[in-house]
Amino acid sequence: MRVVILGATGSIGTQTIDVISRLNRAGYEFELVGLGAGHNIELLATQIEAFRPQVVSVAEEEGTRRLAHRFPDLKVMAGADGLVGLARLDGVDLVVNALVGAIGLRPTLAALERGRTVALANKESLVIGGELVKAALAAHGGRIVPIDSEHSALLQALSAGRRDEVRRLIITASGGPFLRTPLPELDTVRPEDALRHPNWSMGARITIDSATMVNKAFEVIEAHYLFAIPYERIEPVIHPSSVVHSLVEYRDGSVIAQLAAPDMRIPIQYALVYPDRPDTGLPRLDLATVGTLAFEPLDPERYPAFEAVLFAARRGGTAPAVANAADEVLVHRFLAGEIPFTGIARGIAAALAAWQDDSPLSLEGIRAADAWARGFAQEFAT
Ligand SMILES: NC(=O)c1ccc[n+]([C@@H]2O[C@H](COP(=O)([O-])OP(=O)(O)OC[C@H]3O[C@@H](n4cnc5c(N)ncnc54)[C@H](OP(=O)(O)O)[C@@H]3O)[C@@H](O)[C@H]2O)c1
Repeated sequence: MRVVILGATGSIGTQTIDVISRLNRAGYEFELVGLGAGHNIELLATQIEAFRPQVVSVAEEEGTRRLAHRFPDLKVMAGADGLVGLARLDGVDLVVNALVGAIGLRPTLAALERGRTVALANKESLVIGGELVKAALAAHGGRIVPIDSEHSALLQALSAGRRDEVRRLIITASGGPFLRTPLPELDTVRPEDALRHPNWSMGARITIDSATMVNKAFEVIEAHYLFAIPYERIEPVIHPSSVVHSLVEYRDGSVIAQLAAPDMRIPIQYALVYPDRPDTGLPRLDLATVGTLAFEPLDPERYPAFEAVLFAARRGGTAPAVANAADEVLVHRFLAGEIPFTGIARGIAAALAAWQDDSPLSLEGIRAADAWARGFAQEFAT
């Protein structure tokens, strides 16, 4: 199996490499032919030494010079076009998209346009470009296998019945670090508190997006496109221990859940060898230690960003791209100490209220919406 990993140096990317090493020890034959990274040239160089890919891509030209000097036989590309080039590489069986942000959309489309299977962690591909991805899947016969733990759980639970028997999808949410914080204190929580996720160790943006529930709204959009279920039949539920990764309720009242230790390597492995379930020594779940499984409704007052992003989803077109880009900048500004935590939700809602564009979705339109929202969020005074 010849694999390209985009975002190889990130949280999902490095865990994907760990899983591939485990799978190869278990008898699979994965070959890393292409690696895409951003600015972490040192880690990428270590990966190149270990796996000897044919082609790599980095964010800036400066990185290409450093790598070309160190690895004279390696083909090195750069920028967004480099990532698209990797996704289109000849003779590739699987593209793992573990990029963060809107930059992930074009490579997803490029891989699907070649009829490829994409193991997708980059949720922004579906959040901002869901309709384009749907069209590419229909036109070229590629396939998406989700990496996100919730969607991996839904994929597994959906195999228990027919699609027309599904009543609703239930997506679990840990509630993040501020589940029990008194509401008035949310104005003054610090970045270091927000970065302390109770169950998962992830990249900075998704950790803050978990605290605001922007991430959960993105996951509702992802689920909508992955499984063709209308928004009104996809619901979040708070489940603080992140042991049940999501559930499917069927018409007869049966609810099928997927449980596993909160370790992203489990859904990553499922996506890589779907639908196989080899034992590669990943952590097991000890139910007696887990003890209790608790659930509670999502409080809209605590998580106003959830509704704001879902409003964008229902509006469609470029509105989700506005929500995504505004959120990215606002998260950055919160981490830099420029705006309060609660300013993220207010900024997203303000950007959506100010954005007027109801033209059909296109890459050009997404680019324009993204640029506009970044400018808006940068200037937004909370
Ligand atoms: N982490 C999780 O547990 C988790 C769970 C579910 C879903 N996801 C989703 O998976 C995706 C990746 O998340 P993550 O947590 O792995 O993020 P991350 O740790 O921040 O890693 C992001 C990766 O993208 C690369 N990248 C960023 N900007 C780039 C650019 N302009 N050009 C080329 N490469 C670029 C980074 O490269 P450098 O580091 O080299 O700059 C890095 O390899 C996100 O969409 C996230 O929502 C993550």
